[in-house]
Amino acid sequence: MALTHTLRSIPLFEHLRDADIERIQGFARERSYPKNNVIVFEEDPGDSLYVVLNGQVKVVLIGEDGREVILSTPGKGDFFGEMSLIDDQPRSAHVIAMEDSQLLVLRREDFHQCLAAMPGIAIGLLRAMCKRLRQADDKIGGLVLLDVPGRVARLLLEMADEGDGEHITKRITHHLIAQMIGSSRETVSRTMRILMDQGLIEVIRSRITLLNRDVLETAAGRGTMGPAQRIHYEGPDRRH
Ligand code: CMP
Repeated sequence: MALTHTLRSIPLFEHLRDADIERIQGFARERSYPKNNVIVFEEDPGDSLYVVLNGQVKVVLIGEDGREVILSTPGKGDFFGEMSLIDDQPRSAHVIAMEDSQLLVLRREDFHQCLAAMPGIAIGLLRAMCKRLRQADDKIGGLVLLDVPGRVARLLLEMADEGDGEHITKRITHHLIAQMIGSSRETVSRTMRILMDQGLIEVIRSRITLLNRDVLETAAGRGTMGPAQRIHYEGPDRRH
């Protein structure tokens, strides 16, 4: 059956026995969320866990002035909404569909039953949460230790690494980059222009290609190049 196959390919469920997968299939419901729909509201009580079957969502914090910080962009095979089910606290962030998305929804009671009956799920959860903590550590490190060109370079390298390491296949706006690295759209636009002028990236019809990974890696705090080969950036606000 198609859903069994899909469930098997989801990291959270990969260590489960066939009988457990069938049980989850009995509990879970599929739901579609159009682009921009809010799936989870920050501060709401949590009643379900979600697994992304198709599409992409964003986990965001929204400030009182309406500014958004994107914490993560879960895609196919990722899950979210587990925190409130585990610690009984309100939802820690908003989760919004970035594209038309198809999700698997597991209610609180069913999730707890699965957790008690299937140790494989607990291991999958712990692994995924470790990965998330590493990403959050990376993000905090970037915010404190890197300037804006460094944060942009790091994000571009991560996105290119989702594919062949050279091309970024997903379309991404300067506004979205700004929300992902804690900067402003204007500063990101200026930084992208500098990266292009210095021959480090190429942008053709919003498709980004990395032309010099070594210099980008150095800017992102990962490389070994000397100062002469770094990104030269003249600007009043390179930290924001
Ligand atoms: P919950 O708090 O129930 O609802 C919001 C969800 O966003 C949360 O569960 C997590 O699944 C997810 N989330 C919160 N913070 C992060 C983060 N830093 N990285 C990835 N996902 C997160």
